[in-house]
Amino acid sequence: MSDDIEQLLGRARGEIEAAADLRALEQLRVDWLGKKGRITELLKQLGGMAPDARKAYGERVNRAKDAVGGWLDTRKRVLEEAELNAKLAAEAIDVTLPGRGEAAGGLHPVTRTIQRIERLFGDLGFESVSGPEIEDDFHNFGALNIPELHPARAMADTFYVNGGSMLLRTHTSPVQIRTMERHVKEGRTPPIRIICPGRVYRCDFDRTHSPMFHQVEGLYVAEKVTFTDLKYDLMTFLSRFFEREMEVLFRPSYFPFVEPGADVHIRWGERWLEVLGCGMVHPNVFKAVGLDPERYTGYAFGLGVERFAMLRYGVDDLRQFFNNDLRFLQQFA
Ligand code: FA5
Repeated sequence: MSDDIEQLLGRARGEIEAAADLRALEQLRVDWLGKKGRITELLKQLGGMAPDARKAYGERVNRAKDAVGGWLDTRKRVLEEAELNAKLAAEAIDVTLPGRGEAAGGLHPVTRTIQRIERLFGDLGFESVSGPEIEDDFHNFGALNIPELHPARAMADTFYVNGGSMLLRTHTSPVQIRTMERHVKEGRTPPIRIICPGRVYRCDFDRTHSPMFHQVEGLYVAEKVTFTDLKYDLMTFLSRFFEREMEVLFRPSYFPFVEPGADVHIRWGERWLEVLGCGMVHPNVFKAVGLDPERYTGYAFGLGVERFAMLRYGVDDLRQFFNNDLRFLQQFA
């Protein structure tokens, strides 16, 4: 009888060690230790045995059961580890391989245009500064000599927030106010030579107007700044921006914060196109920020970035810049 058990154990061990995977091993567990398993069947024979033989035989069978259980567990751990290693190997990523589909993104044409403007004015000695998009009345209007009843303050043009106590800046000119204020507060005296690029907001929407658009404001303040400086710097910038000698026309215009003021037009084929507003800083603006208008003069200008981008890239509908249609944007990548 005991030989039978030894023989069975030998077989069990052989089969278990040969089990190729966890499924085969589970089948072996059922075959050997399950309800109708071979070892279980041995236990069933105990019922028909004499009591003293039953005790010795029972112990042997139980040891055999434990042995088979132990081999099954050991083999299970080995197979589990092998399976895990195989899975890890299959999922391994070789980070040294070159990537697939290397489609590089590109800067938005408006961003590219702003960077170009910054670079060209940088060459002329202008530093780029920024300011808040949510402004108060004083910085957006009051300090810029825009009187209480000026149409630019009307609800129709300006987006008010905070119940009307604040607004979305309608131009980048408040940054010139903040910069001059900061100079005065820190006891620094002009020259001040800055450009201020950024988003501005107006209640406006058609092919050439968008409720959010970008401007670049420029400001140069020193002791003897003249309109000639203004003309020279803007003409230099325009020719460099469009990469050819530009025909430029300064036409008298009105902005409350400059005196005199002008609209600048460039020759574009058969037409004259207005591209920016400019002028000599109004004495009231210097007074509002605490600079002496007897001592300092300055010029300021403001341009619409989308207008420049449209001309440079030949885009005829400004709204295309904001539709985020990849077919349009990819042309600039
Ligand atoms: C101003 O905003 C003045 N602050 C500019 C200035 C600064 C003049 C300093 C003098 C001295 P204006 O409202 O014209 O000016 O706007 C300037 C430019 O912004 C326009 O020439 C136009 O190109 C652009 N612009 C105006 N409204 C829109 C709009 N809704 N969408 C796109 N571009 C616009």
